[in-house]
Amino acid sequence: MIPNKTVEEIFQKARIEEVVGDFLVLKRRGVNMIGHCPFHNEKTPSFVVSPGKNIFKCFGCGRSGTPVGFIMEHENMAYGDALRYLAKKYNITVEEEERTPEQNEVAKQRESLLLINEFAMKHFISNLIETEYGRNVGLSYFRERGFHDVTIEKFGLGFAYPDGHNLINEAKIKAYNIDLMKQIGLVSQSDRDFFVNRVMFPIFNLSGRVIGFGGRSLTISEKSPKYLNSIDSDIYNKSKILYGFFQGKNAIRKEDNCYLVEGYTDVISLHQAGIEIAVASSGTALTVEQAQLIKRFTDNVTILYDGDAAGIKAAQRGLDILLQQNLNVKIAVLPDGDDPDAYLKSHGAQALKDFVAQNSKDFILFKIADVAEEAKNDPIKKVSLAQDIIQSIARIPDNLKREVYVSQAAKILDIREEVLQSELTKAVRKFTDQQRLEAIREQRLENSQQREYTNKPAARQDTSITPPADNMPLQSILKVLIMYGNKPFEYEGEELVKDRILKDISEEMDYIEHELYLELLNEYRIRETDKENNSPEYYMNHAKSEIREMVLRWVDPGYEFSQNWIDKYQHPLQYQLMPDENYRNEYLHALDLLKMNNLNKLAEDNKNKIKEFIENGDQEGLQVQLQAQILINKERNQLANKLGMVIIPK
Ligand code: CTP
Ligand code: MN
Repeated sequence: MIPNKTVEEIFQKARIEEVVGDFLVLKRRGVNMIGHCPFHNEKTPSFVVSPGKNIFKCFGCGRSGTPVGFIMEHENMAYGDALRYLAKKYNITVEEEERTPEQNEVAKQRESLLLINEFAMKHFISNLIETEYGRNVGLSYFRERGFHDVTIEKFGLGFAYPDGHNLINEAKIKAYNIDLMKQIGLVSQSDRDFFVNRVMFPIFNLSGRVIGFGGRSLTISEKSPKYLNSIDSDIYNKSKILYGFFQGKNAIRKEDNCYLVEGYTDVISLHQAGIEIAVASSGTALTVEQAQLIKRFTDNVTILYDGDAAGIKAAQRGLDILLQQNLNVKIAVLPDGDDPDAYLKSHGAQALKDFVAQNSKDFILFKIADVAEEAKNDPIKKVSLAQDIIQSIARIPDNLKREVYVSQAAKILDIREEVLQSELTKAVRKFTDQQRLEAIREQRLENSQQREYTNKPAARQDTSITPPADNMPLQSILKVLIMYGNKPFEYEGEELVKDRILKDISEEMDYIEHELYLELLNEYRIRETDKENNSPEYYMNHAKSEIREMVLRWVDPGYEFSQNWIDKYQHPLQYQLMPDENYRNEYLHALDLLKMNNLNKLAEDNKNKIKEFIENGDQEGLQVQLQAQILINKERNQLANKLGMVIIPK
């Protein structure tokens, strides 16, 4: 409990413009200040801060409140925690008892989770600094990479022991709740440490709390991925956070620019070199939410990617998302396939600064020039590449900017401006349509989240939304097909998800009994051959309501895993999936389960036939069927092994 006197003091000292100003850029507007609302997506600022009244009010979404209210809402904090946050900011001492583990138990769930992460971070740090083993293995690794002690401290880097129970043992001694540790992916379902023999990179939210971790493996092996990230949880949503943003946000605002890089180590090396505006998405393609986060602090982004094909491709994918937030996007392609970390190491900080200063190009102009070069003597190619550029330009909300780019493109590509202009008009229209659909989808999502929030158990018990468990694998496959069909199947690979699935599934088609799924699959296949639009939006607007509803459900992460699914198939929730590859793993697992179901059906059919042949005395037929049964069983056993299942003979 915080004494009333202290609460009063906090109320008096906390200034709304300062509190809000830590999270977004405010511009003077008469006696008030104005900015982009952090609570909803908007293009023109309608978030007003009144220093006189010491409140904020958004004319877009209607939210309003005091400094405490802002922190509660923005940081998802309970009242008491928001007060503590403000006390800290204003150097007000709060005289209250230290929390005992029992009090932790009753404290808000979220706060408990954050405290656990903080404990884990401290533990990893102490492993790194205070144990001989940690120093020999972890610290020497960081030093070898050229990280200075201040840098290691600034980023809270640590070390996870290789034994698999170092963290959990310490947690038990300190009476932390192990179930909660499982919720945030620090401990596996089998009560073992989740991060094992890894150097640890804590991930901070905007107010500096640890919400998750990335861990880099120190043993390079096929089996364990180079980086593991915390699972998404109540406190960590990897698509909403950028690594390095907490440490860099003030610099980003001040310098009015942000460098987007690929990796944790790039961010850290850049910060160490004095370039504090570097951030990275944690092993995922850039998301809309991340672009919105940047937009709250600056209008300018420079993408710093390595010059290899994969790097450029990743940058291209991020481009449209950034443009859509009306950000000015530049790109600096580092030479020799170096990432910023490697470049800094071999050329030094000044060289990197110079390189970026001299070589950042406006990304769209860069793309246009690239196309002009690539299609120099090939008019047909030029037309199709120009289309691609138009698609990007269409995403820019500012129509003046669009005009500028179109006339530039016309000039450089030597295509009549009117032609490009009319293509652009079409593209813009199409894009706006899409956005409208998205808005509808978001609305539904919000509604369902509200439902979820106020009435959690009801949503879970609603059996109508959970199809029979037998169909779950197939539904997973369809989900991946429709939602991720156009993504590469392998990270940065050529083959698309849809190609792979359509190929795999053709062998299983005969066994699909569920009408709706069969219909959907067939329709997808036909549209694919006819080169028609097979996007999620199409299916969200499908004439058949069952299809519409099913697809819209997939957009809502609240319904991703049903208890049925977990119970029946021991779906591997407990192990971390590679970021950006969840759909791939989900699909591969579902395909195995589907095959298993189908093999079971086949075995059942075969058994009936065997019975028939025995009754008829057909020896030849019997031999064939017995042979078949052996093959089926062999395949079933192999698959069961892979899935970790036990087959109970009937
Ligand atoms: N990443 C990941 N999982 C992997 C590989 C990469 O999540 N298996 C993410 C990490 O956030 C990583 C980023 O993608 O920082 C870039 O990957 P990469 O370039 O391979 O790693 P670096 O950051 O360069 O790390 P290092 O220099 O230690 O190899
Ligand atoms: Mn690297």
